[in-house]
Amino acid sequence: MDPVLHSLLSRHSLGGKHLSEPGPDDAALALMADAALHAPDHAGLVPFRFIVVRGEQRQRLAALFADAARDAGKDASGIALDAERALQVPVTVAVMARIDPGHPQVPAHEQWCAVGGALAMFLQAAHALGYAGKMLSGHKVRHPAIQAAFCAPGEMLVGWVSLGTAARPLKASPRRLRQADVLQPWA
Ligand SMILES: Cc1cc2nc3c(=O)[nH]c(=O)nc-3n(C[C@H](O)[C@H](O)[C@H](O)COP(=O)(O)O)c2cc1C
Repeated sequence: MDPVLHSLLSRHSLGGKHLSEPGPDDAALALMADAALHAPDHAGLVPFRFIVVRGEQRQRLAALFADAARDAGKDASGIALDAERALQVPVTVAVMARIDPGHPQVPAHEQWCAVGGALAMFLQAAHALGYAGKMLSGHKVRHPAIQAAFCAPGEMLVGWVSLGTAARPLKASPRRLRQADVLQPWA
């Protein structure tokens, strides 16, 4: 099979507890961002931004995750688990969206499509470079202190991409639909 197609068809998400060092370095992250910039994007609005968290900065993210878990009413072990999620992942990338609901030419749903396309390309490039990862969101994205730590005015925190080297083989998630369910002739 064509190696590009093989790469496209062999990407699967892998969660933080199965990610080990090394995570993507600057050069790899730059290529991933470049891939994201090749996603379809009506009027070239680039309604997304990626913020890289790694090294010592993971302690700060862990503290924010712990605060969010505490505010969500989690017990001590739940709080520790959420903090650990930030520490165990080699590289975490926050995904920001900047949607202009009043854009004269590009409706909001098209801008979200561009964000999704960019995210898919970012993850796909990580896979092509030999890294694994997973997009995660959850209640934390709505926590005010976490939003304040990441969002510029007008931005929304979509979630985080966990990135690292796969510590176990990738597995396909069960898919409810097949090609024929999503690719149909016009009746
Ligand atoms: C914006 C976005 C947010 C997501 N948030 C979560 C999440 O919080 N928890 C989770 O288990 N999966 C989440 N997912 C789904 C996973 O990233 C992943 O796509 C899913 O587990 C299917 O795995 P696959 O990518 O190997 O098909 C999210 C996906 C997207 C696009």
